[in-house]
Amino acid sequence: MSDPVLRATALTRTYHDGARPRPALRDVSLEVARGDWVAVTGPSGCGKSTLLHLLGGLDRPDGGEVWLAGRRLDDRSESARARLRRRHVGVVFQFFNLVPTMTAVGNVELPLLLAGVGRREARRRALAILDELGVAEIADATPSGLSGGQQQRVALARAVVHRPDVLLADEPTGALDSGSAEVVLDLLRRRHAAGQTIVLVTHDHRVAAAADRVVTMLDGQLVDERRLGDPARRPATYANLLGLEG
Ligand SMILES: Nc1ncnc2c1ncn2[C@@H]1O[C@H](COP(=O)(O)OP(=O)(O)OP(=O)(O)O)[C@@H](O)[C@H]1O
Ligand SMILES: [Mg+2]
Repeated sequence: MSDPVLRATALTRTYHDGARPRPALRDVSLEVARGDWVAVTGPSGCGKSTLLHLLGGLDRPDGGEVWLAGRRLDDRSESARARLRRRHVGVVFQFFNLVPTMTAVGNVELPLLLAGVGRREARRRALAILDELGVAEIADATPSGLSGGQQQRVALARAVVHRPDVLLADEPTGALDSGSAEVVLDLLRRRHAAGQTIVLVTHDHRVAAAADRVVTMLDGQLVDERRLGDPARRPATYANLLGLEG
């Protein structure tokens, strides 16, 4: 078997901004094989976003290691992590983090321009993916003029447009109605079928059910991990699958 594209070992992260230290991650290890789709679930505050940020090198752990595409990520400088991220990772942030002064299409083409793709080709690809996500008509609007759901789709477009080795997506359907969530899920399914590795945080059972593996977190730890069966033969909802309903 080939090496995992993403490997985290014994990650810990404690925040020190309040009266007492707040442990957000405790001894979390996770391996993600190339082409795998992992859904991360768990209650609010259990550490999902913290984990995703560490996996993408957006933050550094207090202990443990993160390896991305065969390179250690966590012990590098901010700028070295940014360079690796640019090459290998696409991130959908929980709160989008679009560049407010740029248009939607400007945000989406940014990773391509940074990768050296020519302006015209970058624009073409950015518009194509906005179209695929059903938001082509807002290409020239700036983020402040967009709804949460529109911003979320622009953020997803930006994260996948350069076909990163790993897509890290934090609640990428959290701001969407069910119709738009289905459009997003379809795009993720198509990308996954084409080999895209995905690590996705979600509260939505339908979204989790589309993954190959579901890991559950509680109080900063991974408490459960299961591999789902053939998508065609899966029960309608992940909750059914786990026998949590009915
Ligand atoms: N920048 C920060 N500074 C201080 N504490 C933080 C920070 N980010 C997260 N925390 C705390 O760390 C814990 C884990 O937070 P995290 O955002 O990872 O949870 P989450 O599972 O993503 O929650 P949600 O489902 O609400 O997004 C929480 O107790 C949170 O309050
Ligand atoms: Mg979160």
